[in-house]
Amino acid sequence: MSKQQRENTLIDLKGMTKSYTVNGQLFSVLPKINMTVSKSEMVAIMGPSGSGKSTLLFILGLFLSPTEGEYLFDGKNILTLNRGQQAQFRRERIGFVLQSADMFQHSTVYENVEYPLIYARSRPSERPERIHQVLQQVNLTNRMHHSSNKLSGGEKQRVAIARAMVNHPAVILADEPTGQLDADNSQQIMEYFRSISSTTDTAMVIVTHDPNVAEKCDTVLQICNGQLL
Ligand SMILES: Nc1ncnc2c1ncn2[C@@H]1O[C@H](COP(=O)(O)OP(=O)(O)O)[C@@H](O)[C@H]1O
Ligand SMILES: [Mg+2]
Repeated sequence: MSKQQRENTLIDLKGMTKSYTVNGQLFSVLPKINMTVSKSEMVAIMGPSGSGKSTLLFILGLFLSPTEGEYLFDGKNILTLNRGQQAQFRRERIGFVLQSADMFQHSTVYENVEYPLIYARSRPSERPERIHQVLQQVNLTNRMHHSSNKLSGGEKQRVAIARAMVNHPAVILADEPTGQLDADNSQQIMEYFRSISSTTDTAMVIVTHDPNVAEKCDTVLQICNGQLL
């Protein structure tokens, strides 16, 4: 790897392995995966159901510990952090978007985007501006004070994206973010991801079944029986 590549690399996974023991038998889900993600790169991960896509994403998000392997994030070996330090690292550097765009139904759009700021203990005086900024980025300022349960599926997913990016993470990890959307809304979500990655330098790792979503990314990784192709 050249010096420039190294400086541009955000995520570097080496020999990442995840196995489970079920009834005394060892199942290998991810055998020795190597993967890199550059700053502001959009990476799609595709593969059949059960091939280990979510497992890989949860390892990247520090929700799951790998059985073996090295995980460098911006050059820092983050698997050596303890659980509390990892949780803090995740709050500050990693955003998550899930298929179901789960949110607090009885809270407003504004409040749903505010929660991660509260969790990350950001200054209360800074919050309104940051919330306005991210809602503008997903074109939802006109819905700011609406109750979240009144939104359409596409709008909910845009709130989920705003929420994932409000702490200015270095990477957003998305597990089937368009899985419950029609083709038009899926394309729209991809346009928001693209504009966010190019204007804020945020990298994206997007798990998807949809070839139309994958083709909007810079890199497409196929995962098959835990092997990246
Ligand atoms: N806690 C667990 N214990 C045992 N096996 C698991 C566990 N979690 C996931 N798996 C297995 O790991 C494999 C990959 O799962 P997953 O990453 O969810 O696949 P995908 O997201 O590609 O559909 C599946 O065979 C699944 O059954
Ligand atoms: Mg999955």
